[in-house]
Amino acid sequence: MNKLNTVIAIDGFSSCGKSTLAKQLAKALRFAYIDSGAMYRAVTYHLIANEIDLTDLEAVDENIKLINIEFKYINNENCIFLNGLDVSDEIRKMYVSEKVSKVSPIRSVRKAMVRVQQSLGETCDIVMDGRDIGTQVFPYATVKLFMTADPKIRAERRHAELLSKNELVTLEEIMTNLAQRDYDDTTREESPLICATDAIVIDNTHLSMAQQFDLAMEIIETNRKKAPDKRPTS
Ligand code: DC
Repeated sequence: MNKLNTVIAIDGFSSCGKSTLAKQLAKALRFAYIDSGAMYRAVTYHLIANEIDLTDLEAVDENIKLINIEFKYINNENCIFLNGLDVSDEIRKMYVSEKVSKVSPIRSVRKAMVRVQQSLGETCDIVMDGRDIGTQVFPYATVKLFMTADPKIRAERRHAELLSKNELVTLEEIMTNLAQRDYDDTTREESPLICATDAIVIDNTHLSMAQQFDLAMEIIETNRKKAPDKRPTS
């Protein structure tokens, strides 16, 4: 991380609106936005496309070396490129979502992704969202936010979003899926989702998007002034 770069780390549970907030903050602050979950999705897509057995860790290790991930801002959209190919839409498809939680806990995958994430933090000011950004990727991030919300509210928001895309799933199915993802994220051996001790928790159960944004901006401005650089000097 370059001394002058500011890093806003946003971690939290699935379907808590992390990426919506992260994008809004990046736009307002004129920082780059990095969706670290998209990187794990891109790796998953690559492995599926190359018919790699996800339980064959040696094959996964070999394939990780062949992967190059880049982010580009095109037509007001954050796009992710895998070996030169725009995979932004493909990685959101169900067949990738179903497998990504098998790929994201693999140690070699995490090591490679964290390296890329850290190098992105060296190039410019960034807002990055994920599960381990404040704990593993940028332990000295300028500001760390941890997002949470009542599981029922999260499920209702996700349900409405899926219905608007004509994806017919029941609220119960979503609640079960979210509970499983929370369990997987918080109990996995590699970089489990935990709230960093110096993170500020935003519970957005009763907040509108505008209220959440205002609160996050207030926290960022206050903490940027208070702790411009938390890294130890060596
Ligand atoms: O945020 P998302 O649903 O797009 O994340 C996809 C997967 O990647 C999900 O299984 C959580 C995982 N992930 C992770 O392990 N570490 C991160 N920093 C970001 C996402």
